[in-house]
Amino acid sequence: MLPATPEGIARAAALLCAGGLVAFGTETVYGLGADATNPEAIARIFEAKGRPRFNPLIAHYPNARLAFDDGVATDTARALAAAFWPGPLTLVLPRSETCKVALLAGAGLDTLAVRVPADPVALALLRACGRPIAAPSANRSGQVSPTTAAHVAEGLSGRIEAILNSGPCPVGVESTVLDLSGPDAVLLRPGGVTREAIEAVIGPIVRGLPLASAEAPRSPGMLQSHYAPGLPVRLEAREVAADEALLAFGPPLAGAAAVFQLSEHADCIEAAARLFDGLRVLDGTPGARGIAVMPIPQEGLGLAINDRLERAAAPR
Ligand code: TXA
Ligand code: MG
Repeated sequence: MLPATPEGIARAAALLCAGGLVAFGTETVYGLGADATNPEAIARIFEAKGRPRFNPLIAHYPNARLAFDDGVATDTARALAAAFWPGPLTLVLPRSETCKVALLAGAGLDTLAVRVPADPVALALLRACGRPIAAPSANRSGQVSPTTAAHVAEGLSGRIEAILNSGPCPVGVESTVLDLSGPDAVLLRPGGVTREAIEAVIGPIVRGLPLASAEAPRSPGMLQSHYAPGLPVRLEAREVAADEALLAFGPPLAGAAAVFQLSEHADCIEAAARLFDGLRVLDGTPGARGIAVMPIPQEGLGLAINDRLERAAAPR
């Protein structure tokens, strides 16, 4: 437990920059933070939360200028940022060409959720870190979002490096998530900024289905813009053809047209960190008719890796 002093903030920033997980308070709820540019640190977030699937995370920034380096801003986005940032509003924007956030943090999507939190300690941490921090709510999967450092400790103690204690969260509900990546502004999650307040700035918005919500159908089309390889995907491969690209896990099968190694030593954290890069790289293999995926154990982060691969392999 780190105090919200300059020393505590500096220590938290150093842990984050070294790839550690640090929970920190925002005005909404406590977030479980990791360096958004470090895919292995992001993989550890999913492991610590015990999530059975990869959902896209929000990238946090100290100001709108830095947020709009990674997410492409529209006039609407700029108007909302001017009205509500820093504050409990998250904007889903197209990933920029130069976006430094790890693909895993966005669950392979072509969009990125960005937010500038209002809490002064969180802002100081973001400035000290010098890079975006990806943070879902700092609870175990299936538990309620924490609004005090003690709540975080109850759920995640022993699984993360530190908790930066900035006291109770004043808003107490998560940020509003607004998708600005399409032609209409779509409300994906109601939260700290009301629909009425948003509509007063940009006019009528549409109510949408949240991504990866528990009720959402588990189909590959569930996430419209979710990266799906162009090549067919074959799971549980125990041999590979000369015209297939291989996504390897552990010692690779021989004879493939191309190989992308997820993890030589069959480590699920490393494999999760490399998953979306691997799918994209293999998809570009000249002459390949498909991607063969070696078996990945159905335990720990393997569950989330397999969930994503099953959706990539489902008939389209
Ligand atoms: O208040 C908050 O937003 C807190 C604090 C820590 O910032 N964070 C939070 O994160 O609630 P999380 O991971 O529990 O919720 C993020 C929400 C999810 O509903 C997720 O589906 C959505 O944002 N989201 C993230 N990236 C998205 C994207 N690219 N497209 C659509 N929805 C996205
Ligand atoms: Mg949450």
